[in-house]
Amino acid sequence: MTNPPLIRMHGVTKCFDKVIANAGADFSLQQGEIHAIIGENGAGKSTLMKILYGLYQPNGGEIYFRDEHVRIDSPRTAITLGIGMVQQHFTLIPALTALENIVLAKEPCRFKTLLDTATAHRTITALANQLGFQLDLNAKVESLPIGVQQYVEILKALYHGAKILILDEPTAVLAPQEITGLFDCLRGLKAEGTSVILITHKLSEVMAIADTITVMHSGKSVASLPRAETDTAELSELMIGKRIFNDLPTQKRSDKPSEPMLHLDNVILHAENGRALLDGIALDVFPGEIVGIAGVEGNGQAELIEILTGLRKSDSGTITLNGESFANRSPAEVRRRRVVHLPSDRHRHGISLDDRVDENLILGSHNRSPFCQHGLLKRSASQKFADNAIEKYEIRAGGVSLPIRTLSGGNQQKVVVARELENDPELIIAAHPTRGLDINAGQFVHQQLIDARNRSKGILLVSADLEELLTLSDRIAVMYNGKIVGILQPSATDEAELGALMLGGSI
Ligand SMILES: Nc1ncnc2c1ncn2[C@@H]1O[C@H](COP(=O)(O)OP(=O)(O)OP(=O)(O)O)[C@@H](O)[C@H]1O
Ligand SMILES: [Mg+2]
Repeated sequence: MTNPPLIRMHGVTKCFDKVIANAGADFSLQQGEIHAIIGENGAGKSTLMKILYGLYQPNGGEIYFRDEHVRIDSPRTAITLGIGMVQQHFTLIPALTALENIVLAKEPCRFKTLLDTATAHRTITALANQLGFQLDLNAKVESLPIGVQQYVEILKALYHGAKILILDEPTAVLAPQEITGLFDCLRGLKAEGTSVILITHKLSEVMAIADTITVMHSGKSVASLPRAETDTAELSELMIGKRIFNDLPTQKRSDKPSEPMLHLDNVILHAENGRALLDGIALDVFPGEIVGIAGVEGNGQAELIEILTGLRKSDSGTITLNGESFANRSPAEVRRRRVVHLPSDRHRHGISLDDRVDENLILGSHNRSPFCQHGLLKRSASQKFADNAIEKYEIRAGGVSLPIRTLSGGNQQKVVVARELENDPELIIAAHPTRGLDINAGQFVHQQLIDARNRSKGILLVSADLEELLTLSDRIAVMYNGKIVGILQPSATDEAELGALMLGGSI
């Protein structure tokens, strides 16, 4: 006989105006299990978990904690029940240190007023060691790589007493090695009786770690299955209905033009402390080519993108675009040269959260024809562009006039992708373009990149997903310690070799 569930959500509904995010969803969690929630973008996963964490109040349905009816009216109440959540978009305060963020709202006080930093530091260091996290607690959060920020979020939840840890797409921001580390940590937590709820789009992860899997579709839970009794084929069918994936056309171009579209030679960038962030980068992207960049986060990929998109200036080196100098251009000039950027951190660079969906869709082109004529904004043009993008990219939004923050994480990403790719780009700089997208949407974006390649555009694809790089790229450059340590043909390499190079090994 199975034990009564630790948590039971029954018939939960949640509406935002006319949008029904949860339509009578059920969910049961056993103590000490790792429970995955999967489903398409906009299926209602984050909303259901935000209700469990007290961030939203449901319009209907009940929640039971150890068979007792509870009302979780705020995260504070959730925390008293031992429920902690790491949200899809982190909620840390960038200007505070990791330690300050973790203890926020639960400062251990000496003499009632002073923060007893030493005690907090000791407790949290012990917790971090136990979980195998390596981080500098005194570093400002804004200076930490996103994978480490996630550790801070997890430590925060556990420090506040979470025995039920909800993680909303934690692996979307992690490199493969980091995912292994996170999963080891989750298994350790499970062994101690902590229950974990994990939202993810990657079925391989689900099969690797989950005990139970709940599939959501259109705001409802359509199945809840033990992992041992299902497989990826069944799960994909449950997630997307009867639709069948198309195989990507993987044919690559054989006729290589003689002149590169983008050419970098000996590009150098130093940090303020003198450390080389980019150490003599030489790289070409030819028209009609997808060049993949592999690397563990923090090895220069972000700086390379910043330099190419005008967010940062290089110290020296040559950069040309179609034969003309392209070094140290402003972001506006980069745009004029039709170089588009799909940023990895869309909340920082990709969108303006409080602005309308249609405004976000034309961000960057809003002051140009056809959206602006004689200094006047042409609503009808932006409306038409937005309607078209929403249909083509299957963006699920309650309406184009709503603020973009009301869209699900994956749908926000689709807005960025649509805006950039519909801009008739010459060169596409795509950083983790399918992060947070469901299987279908991810495949759609892959198809768009392949189509752009076949139209002789250039594509620089930075990704932590080696499978994505191996499938799409014509060549893969591996970055380590600010250098390109190898350029490989996907057909002549594999994940193991790339992984070794990424960690500083040699070919
Ligand atoms: N605050 C809000 N205001 C209006 N609509 C919302 C709000 N939050 C969510 N929605 C809508 O509810 C639906 C479900 O969103 P939710 O974020 O739960 O999806 P999800 O399954 O987490 O998707 P994803 O995989 O893209 O993160 C979406 O259509 C979304 O637009
Ligand atoms: Mg979500």
